[in-house]
Amino acid sequence: MKILVINGPNINLLGRREPGIYGSQTLESINASLSESALTLPAELDFVQSNSEGGLVDAIQSALGSFDGIIINPAAYTHTSVAIRDAISAVAIPTVEVHLSNVYSREEFRHKSLIAPVAIGQIAGFGAFGYELALKGLVEFLRKR
Ligand code: DQA
Repeated sequence: MKILVINGPNINLLGRREPGIYGSQTLESINASLSESALTLPAELDFVQSNSEGGLVDAIQSALGSFDGIIINPAAYTHTSVAIRDAISAVAIPTVEVHLSNVYSREEFRHKSLIAPVAIGQIAGFGAFGYELALKGLVEFLRKR
């Protein structure tokens, strides 16, 4: 089972970026823990981070034919990007949306996700552990399919 983990803008700054909201773990350490968890499932992970909308669309398209599932934290593009939503619809690869913070307890502009309607599920508010939850949920979904 191959899963592509995609992170959007400013997620590369985790650890330094507003740690009170996003935690103190770096993206590298989150990805390393996730890779370790994947071994036991088992699942094979690949990781992409991009600060640009086009980079995220390219990453989603690149999964076509080589990945069974996608975990994505589209970051700020969650709330604005029709292009990312359309890319997920176009590839039709089961996708889980992750947010470190509970976007629904924050500013109103974060309450709307353009991605949620095309995702199989969404996890928000559990910090870095949300990626682990997403991985478990996605693998279970793919197994049952
Ligand atoms: C985020 C929430 C978004 O609203 C924000 O723009 C981010 C991170 C999260 O993981 O909590 O960059 O996706």
